Amino acid sequence: MTKIDLSRKIDIPDWVDALMKPTKIGSGEMERQWEEIGDEVMEALKKVMPTGKYTMGPYLKKFEEEFAEFSDSKFSVGISSGTAALHIALEAMGVGPGDEVITVCNTYVATAFAASYCGATPVFVDIDPKTYNLTAELVEKKITSKTKAIVPVHLYGHVVDMGPIMELAKKHNLYVLEDASHAHGGYYKGRRVGSLGHAAAFSFYPSKNMGAYGDGGIITTSDPELFEKIRMLRYVGQRVKFIHEVIGFQDRLDEIQAAMLSVKLRHLDDWNNQRRKIAAIYDEMLKDTPLQLPYVADYCHHVFYSYATIAPSEKERTKLLVYLANHDIGAFAMYPILVPMQGAYEDLGYQDADFPVGASYATRVLNLPIFETFREDEARATAEAILAYYDRA
Ligand SMILES: Cc1ncc(COP(=O)(O)O)c(C=O)c1O
Repeated sequence: MTKIDLSRKIDIPDWVDALMKPTKIGSGEMERQWEEIGDEVMEALKKVMPTGKYTMGPYLKKFEEEFAEFSDSKFSVGISSGTAALHIALEAMGVGPGDEVITVCNTYVATAFAASYCGATPVFVDIDPKTYNLTAELVEKKITSKTKAIVPVHLYGHVVDMGPIMELAKKHNLYVLEDASHAHGGYYKGRRVGSLGHAAAFSFYPSKNMGAYGDGGIITTSDPELFEKIRMLRYVGQRVKFIHEVIGFQDRLDEIQAAMLSVKLRHLDDWNNQRRKIAAIYDEMLKDTPLQLPYVADYCHHVFYSYATIAPSEKERTKLLVYLANHDIGAFAMYPILVPMQGAYEDLGYQDADFPVGASYATRVLNLPIFETFREDEARATAEAILAYYDRA
């Protein structure tokens, strides 16, 4: 049972108010995307709607095949959201009460919730100061006899150094589930994200590198046994209609979402290239400012779900966020509170001191606007505003 205390006091960061209004630069992402591909999407919709079949039909099957191939994986299973994808993948891996699942402190809360939904305990590790990701060294220190799985998150689109993670998992007989929700289309040493762990969970939240028109997600794997289990779990425990062998979930991806996602998959590599061009403009224009800019390891093809900089101090981050908002530029902070420091996990007793890098970055991270239809002149205007802030224009 979840205990809910509605009288609990909530501290809202002081910059949140300033960021509430839409800005000229940085808003309108979904509208612009619709302008670009709306006709293609409507064509896909026109094909699905008259069929009368809206779940578990041919468009889902087709999209699953396409996404598996795109992700260098044998199989994929369409799921109702990224959160459900993480949860179902961990259930399929046999994660349950008494188990521990190691993940990173600076992620979206769903990464950890998925372990909690299985009845397991999430165990959080700090991050590497350059890549903002977990590393095998950090994970190894937290492995116990209860550890069942590792969930690396390719944060902001920077792929985790997966080779050492997989070696560690092999040594300790652990499952690895990639949380690939920030890195659709990314590569690690020439291999696609989604094919790097035993399975991977992706979110198709609308603003992701590839998003649905609503909620959606997918799991990729090349393990036939995991695939069968995942398929059963996403559709009320069935392998065969009406035969419910286990308690499963109702977490299918709809036909219309699948058909529309097939359209978007055709654009994904081009869109990621556009994100990379925007990142290169920021890299070049901001290189002499006090901001720490994103690092790209040589094993990684970064797909820049977000362009995350680190300000020199919390005070400076707040000032710069408000300054940019006042100049009609939509920057933000993702994620300003570490998952282990959220109320949901206060019983685990973590302190900021457990995450020296993550805790410091949470107070200083400042994400600049970036999306596939973000224009190069907008990126330059954003960078110029920052240069002016630092009086270096
Ligand atoms: C890293 C990460 N994991 C998981 C999720 C959960 O995905 P969804 O919102 O589709 O449930 C998200 C989405 O916001 C995410 O960013």
